[in-house]
Amino acid sequence: ELISWCVEDTRKGGFTHYMLKEIYEQPQSFYETIRAGISERVRKMVMEADEITLVACGTSYHTALIFKYLAESLCSIPVRVEMGSEFKYFTPPLRGLVIAVSQSGETADTIAALKMAKARNCPTLAITNMQGSTVTRIADQTLLMRAGPEISVAATKSYIAQLAALMEIINVRCEGAFDDVLSHAHLAIEDVLLQEIKEAVDLCAKAEHIFFVGRGPFYPVSMEGALKMKEISYVHAEGYAAGELKHGPFALLTSETPVVAICTPCPTYGVMASNIKEMKARRAPIIAIGVFGDTELAEIVDIFIPIPKTHLLVQVLTASVVLQLLAYHTACALQRDVDKPRNLAKSVTVE
Ligand code: G6P
Repeated sequence: ELISWCVEDTRKGGFTHYMLKEIYEQPQSFYETIRAGISERVRKMVMEADEITLVACGTSYHTALIFKYLAESLCSIPVRVEMGSEFKYFTPPLRGLVIAVSQSGETADTIAALKMAKARNCPTLAITNMQGSTVTRIADQTLLMRAGPEISVAATKSYIAQLAALMEIINVRCEGAFDDVLSHAHLAIEDVLLQEIKEAVDLCAKAEHIFFVGRGPFYPVSMEGALKMKEISYVHAEGYAAGELKHGPFALLTSETPVVAICTPCPTYGVMASNIKEMKARRAPIIAIGVFGDTELAEIVDIFIPIPKTHLLVQVLTASVVLQLLAYHTACALQRDVDKPRNLAKSVTVE
């Protein structure tokens, strides 16, 4: 058999799309970002903060929200998260450290918010993948993510690298309590890349609407899962806090509306499992992400996707990767232009 190569293929390293290549690069993005560590100056800034405000847009907004849940529960620091586009017009009273989270470092709304924080004399930190980008020139300090160039419009490895940088901040505040967890997390991400999800993809590719639900940090993980699904497969998806479905969206549940529910061992496991039963009772097919060996959960849902049984910080990463793969393969099944979805840009440089 003759195998022909073209330059494009070589750049994609044999992958069908940049997005898939970038999903597979995530163990490395996470590992490299953790390995690069945090400079003394950033460390000092983080230790001195008695409150943190994050400003971000899109996928970066979701990593910021995940940080809020994790930092407030693991190191009891108050965290506020603002969308760049809102912050500019409705600036909240600011105290403490302001962090701009931006893969490109060039998102106009995030830049505008960062400038306003500076003007109010707050200490500022940029978390970005782009050395020398605009946010790095405005902020007092920079924490560089090590994702490498991300070509696909949908953010994947930069999302995981942002979580690495943000988890490092949590680790600094907790005096290294998660050193071990963070230095091994890439192995769990690697495992989950091999997870079979075909049945779930078939269900999503047939759907017109999909709900993604979770609690705590898994709520913004669900929002990100829904965003990925919308942006590359064009299937309407909503990320919801699981307990809120009964305040409206229940009216939309039918046997044609799959619900992707994240239900892993954490303080909300029990209440999440009862939410799943309520959704099942409305005939919604349930795709659950749970941990290996959770046969009880596997029995009550339609499709069970297992992730490794790990620390909460790592569950957040592995569950996110499953949702990226679900969006990616659904988009492929629907023959979408995965790397260049319609109407979207990699970086939005207008306000
Ligand atoms: C665009 C991209 C998204 C990204 C968002 C924020 O909308 O399509 O993938 O999350 O901008 O970008 P940033 O570079 O600031 O993280």
